[in-house]
Amino acid sequence: MAETKKLFIKTYGCQMNVYDSERMAESLGGSGYTEVSSPEEADMILLNTCHIREKAAEKVYSELGRMKELKIANPDLKIGVAGCVAQAEGEEIMRRQPAVDLVVGPQSYHRLPDLEAKARKGIKALDTDFPEEDKFEMLKARPKVKRAPAAFLTVQEGCDKFCAFCVVPYTRGAEVSRPVDRILREAEDLVDRGVREITLLGQNVNAYHGTGEGGTWGLARLIRRLAEVDGLERIRFTTSHPNDMEDDLIAAHGDCDKLMPYLHLPVQSGSDRILKAMNRKHTAQDYLRLMERIREARPDIALSGDFIVGFPGETDQDFEDTMSLVREVGYASAYSFKYSPRPGTPAAEKGDKMVDEDVATERLYRLQGLITEQQKAFQNEMVGREVSVLFERKGREAGQMVGKSEYLHAVHVTDDVEIGEIKRVRIVESGTNSLGGVLVS
Ligand code: SAH
Ligand code: SF4
Ligand code: F3S
Repeated sequence: MAETKKLFIKTYGCQMNVYDSERMAESLGGSGYTEVSSPEEADMILLNTCHIREKAAEKVYSELGRMKELKIANPDLKIGVAGCVAQAEGEEIMRRQPAVDLVVGPQSYHRLPDLEAKARKGIKALDTDFPEEDKFEMLKARPKVKRAPAAFLTVQEGCDKFCAFCVVPYTRGAEVSRPVDRILREAEDLVDRGVREITLLGQNVNAYHGTGEGGTWGLARLIRRLAEVDGLERIRFTTSHPNDMEDDLIAAHGDCDKLMPYLHLPVQSGSDRILKAMNRKHTAQDYLRLMERIREARPDIALSGDFIVGFPGETDQDFEDTMSLVREVGYASAYSFKYSPRPGTPAAEKGDKMVDEDVATERLYRLQGLITEQQKAFQNEMVGREVSVLFERKGREAGQMVGKSEYLHAVHVTDDVEIGEIKRVRIVESGTNSLGGVLVS
């Protein structure tokens, strides 16, 4: 029997990092670790990091500065860095913060138990390979313990799109799709453990092209097959690229009941000039037409997107084009960011003329104002409507239960419901970040 040691994982970045953290914790379970919720208790701290914007990456170094102090109280404490900063800056992390014992990239974390053993012996361990072997196949079987009713499942990883601003193709590597049968097995296993909703993950999840019966399957076919899994009630997927939004996937939004009416489809800008400079390979019109077709297939769908303001060369007119696109689409929610130059990406290397910082800030502020307005309007429209809610946890107030509607709104009730139940709820109020409702009897 391995001795028990305590693991604290802190996760930054996208949902794929959330999934990866879960898998890393499970695989270190085999080395005797159980997860704890505070770093002070831990024998091993793992930061699962994000490199998407400068701020995200810098956070890691300040966090490491704090964590190293814990080594004074516990000299056996090991500190590890995983994720996209580990991939991009592995050696630099080791140099800048000598308290780090272990660095592991997103494509080699199945080797974590070996790296941990090495670190325990006092040898610094760094692995940022893009190995030939299939990480998912090398990972330990997932433990058969009950878990929360909504889960992530990575089906595709990496990106071949090379948008001019983005680090993902460098930190996650080339696009890889997992085979259909492995995904099915993992989904069935999750359902056995109490899962009722699965969000399929990929950096370009709609580019999914996994090997299945009779050849290569696209995402729509995979979703339809997953919809046949008994006990799995809801399916979502994220993140998608407009150019991979194929006809059968659009159709699935209309005819596959288990596919939830929510779609996150980033566009980044409403200006064709900027889209071209970003290497997005689609126009604003292409995107608008696509959104229209998706709405024809599923009129009540909640649409979401991502935007970057202040991309090098963005003029006032380019920004106004983004504002018009947002007005035309009418989002249920959207995320917007100020451009952050990332080392190694074409947009940063070209050294194109940066937009003045104050101008970019002002644009971000205006765009976020518009998005918040739309978000609020979409949320308010829910009042008086009936939605279906998957209950995921207890709320903050006594007797309160919280779950997600099909449109991904957080909904709370004070009725008697169990975690994991899906119930019809009538919405009676719209708060700042959530909706309040009552069970429909
Ligand atoms: N694969 C996803 C995006 C992953 S990154 C997709 O293609 O949609 C999530 C979001 O971060 C992007 O959609 C983009 O809006 C933003 N982002 C990426 N790189 C950025 C950068 N250098 N500066 C600011 N925002 C960035
Ligand atoms: Fe980044 Fe573009 Fe790939 Fe999305 S599609 S991960 S934004 S390079
Ligand atoms: Fe960040 Fe890597 Fe995800 S850079 S957004 S953690 S793919």
